[in-house]
Amino acid sequence: MARLVKKEAKGPMEIKPSDKPAWICMCGLSKNQPFCDGSHIKTKSEEDDKTYTYDEQGNRHEVKE
Ligand code: FES
Repeated sequence: MARLVKKEAKGPMEIKPSDKPAWICMCGLSKNQPFCDGSHIKTKSEEDDKTYTYDEQGNRHEVKE
């Protein structure tokens, strides 16, 4: 599976060290970047051989080649 994610930031974001663990979003769907907000649950049913985009409402669309 793959996911096309639109990124608009043009620079890095500082994350300050903390005593608590921080979960960084790796799926690209979190609305609280760079942190995970649980949105990755939407990726659980993605098929391995397909590519997807997600719209602003979080609806999944398969990319047709
Ligand atoms: S890994 Fe992206 S929302 Fe959790």
